Amino acid sequence: MSAKKGRVFSGARPTGRQHLGNYLGAIKNYVGLQDEYDCIYCIVDLHALTTVETTQSLKENTFEMALDWLAMGIRPEETILFVQSHVPEVNELHVIFSMVTMMGKLTDLPTFKEKVRDHPDNVNYGLLGYPVLQAADITLYKADLVPVGVDQAPHIEFTREIVRSFHYRYGVQDVLVEPQMKATEIPKVLGIDGERKMSKSLNNHIELAASPEETQKLVMQMLTDPQRLRRDDPGDPDVCNVFTMHKIFSPSEEVEMINVECRRAGIGCVDCKKRYAKNLNADLAPFRERRAALEEKPDEIWDILYDGAERASVIAKQTMQEVREAVGLPGRKGK
Ligand code: TRP
Ligand code: SF4
Repeated sequence: MSAKKGRVFSGARPTGRQHLGNYLGAIKNYVGLQDEYDCIYCIVDLHALTTVETTQSLKENTFEMALDWLAMGIRPEETILFVQSHVPEVNELHVIFSMVTMMGKLTDLPTFKEKVRDHPDNVNYGLLGYPVLQAADITLYKADLVPVGVDQAPHIEFTREIVRSFHYRYGVQDVLVEPQMKATEIPKVLGIDGERKMSKSLNNHIELAASPEETQKLVMQMLTDPQRLRRDDPGDPDVCNVFTMHKIFSPSEEVEMINVECRRAGIGCVDCKKRYAKNLNADLAPFRERRAALEEKPDEIWDILYDGAERASVIAKQTMQEVREAVGLPGRKGK
């Protein structure tokens, strides 16, 4: 591709409209990495099939997510943005990888144990193979760097192990690339309940595409310093999620003012939240404008995704050719 530092790959399950947690935890990093790396971003619809509740509205959720990512600044002219199932080579690599993966490794993974705990009635084979498919995603595109949240560390380590096992088993070197993980460094984005991580399933989220009024309404519901019961009580910004968000979205003088005034009851939480809502809305305004314009042209969004799949496919086909040769599968006609 170009004279950049290397190749980035990351994937996310299609969860529809994105929220502040997705923005600060993933999209912001995805956008920034485009300046230094050749980036490939994938909407992993096949991974979403592992849990039943995500299989509804897959198409719509894929569209809405792509729309948000593009409006946030993913640049499809340089970056490859595509839907996982549009490049079926990943399934073949998944099968090949499954032969160099020991069962115990998969059942030991914390992410698998968590899923078993949360969905005891749906412990399907695909769920067990989830990290194998993820390893296929990453290595099919020979990614050097994978930006993900820290919870994904075991999956990236697992991917590195698969690459080594594959090379060892087939007596080859450098057919695949051992990826590095790039842990996203962000403050944990809590939901409006101020207790748990922001997430759609907990319904404690603020959508990026929400209207300014809706945004303000949700911000006003945010939990503040739980010890501050009355307007006259002094508060502690260090334990307040509203303050955490101010530090991200408000000008530094305002953050400093709140830091001082909150502690001596000089500012009330209602005023403080209104200020946060205003700054958040101002920050999101250009995104919301771009999103509204893009939303008018749904065909263009799908064309961007189809074009991304075509470009991804070129890389995938090349890698699979090398993998088949390494494995020793009988060559296809003409190859
Ligand atoms: N497992 C990731 C998650 O749950 C999603 C994912 C699938 C992914 N394939 C990937 C992330 C490849 C990075 C690279 O968030
Ligand atoms: Fe939190 Fe602001 Fe209220 Fe202080 S004034 S407790 S920082 S919302």
